[in-house]
Amino acid sequence: MNKIVFISGATKGIGYEVAQQLASHDFTVLIGARNIQQGEVAVEKLRLHGADAHFIPIDVNDELSVKSAAEVITKQFGKVDVLINNAGVNYEFQLGTRPSMLSVDMLKDTFGANFFGAFAIIHHFLPLLKQAGAARIINVSSTLGSLTSLSDPENFFYGVNSLAYNSSKTALNALTVSLAKDLADDNITVNSICPGWVKTDMGTDAAPRTVEQGAAIIVKMATMGNSPTGKFVDENGEIPW
Ligand SMILES: NC(=O)c1ccc[n+]([C@@H]2O[C@H](COP(=O)([O-])OP(=O)(O)OC[C@H]3O[C@@H](n4cnc5c(N)ncnc54)[C@H](OP(=O)(O)O)[C@@H]3O)[C@@H](O)[C@H]2O)c1
Repeated sequence: MNKIVFISGATKGIGYEVAQQLASHDFTVLIGARNIQQGEVAVEKLRLHGADAHFIPIDVNDELSVKSAAEVITKQFGKVDVLINNAGVNYEFQLGTRPSMLSVDMLKDTFGANFFGAFAIIHHFLPLLKQAGAARIINVSSTLGSLTSLSDPENFFYGVNSLAYNSSKTALNALTVSLAKDLADDNITVNSICPGWVKTDMGTDAAPRTVEQGAAIIVKMATMGNSPTGKFVDENGEIPW
């Protein structure tokens, strides 16, 4: 039986590219998306390239939707070997909001997808992950979630002061540290990765990296022989928390 990967927010950008690459590593790919039409189109495109791809409706902001996605996967596939928490939002880059001017709603909405959404999926998918025997959770974070990097004036990203996005990724990293310890006895590894600054709707055309380059570290963590746990990495190695 193929390994099964579930990727949230996988109709475009980094998530879609990861789906394409993991399909070529013989994974069955479950495309999690909140937009039904976009989910079906993505699956159709992947199948045209020979992938074993399936659409799983999920809005990570809606716990009932996350729960029903877990139920659908339980009935149809019975396990998840690799869970990639990729769905994410960033409202500040486009609006250029100053941290002190941020609305409480924008802060909550950002944490909704980037932090609570990731937790909800892990929580409701746990039986599926345990069923895989040796599962992996990959949280798609960002160097912008690294407090060490953001407080270093020499760091390239020092000036990117987007409070909601950055702190939601810091919180996601805290989830990684906590759950890596909690789930070690279940043989489930939990890691955070940074894809770098990538040309996507979120990353914008100003980004220097392609989706292929951004997806590579996720594919590596999904396919490497022995996965570490409780780490924060990019293609160059460990990133400070
Ligand atoms: N691009 C970069 O430079 C960069 C750098 C570091 C980290 N990252 C991280 O990489 C991940 C992927 O980002 P990307 O650059 O590929 O951006 P993207 O092209 O904008 O993709 C984001 C995906 O998340 C989905 N999503 C958002 N909210 C959702 C929800 N409530 N339920 C389900 N899906 C939802 C979006 O679906 P809709 O189309 O329905 O909105 C979309 O498919 C994110 O976690 C991001 O923070 C990106």
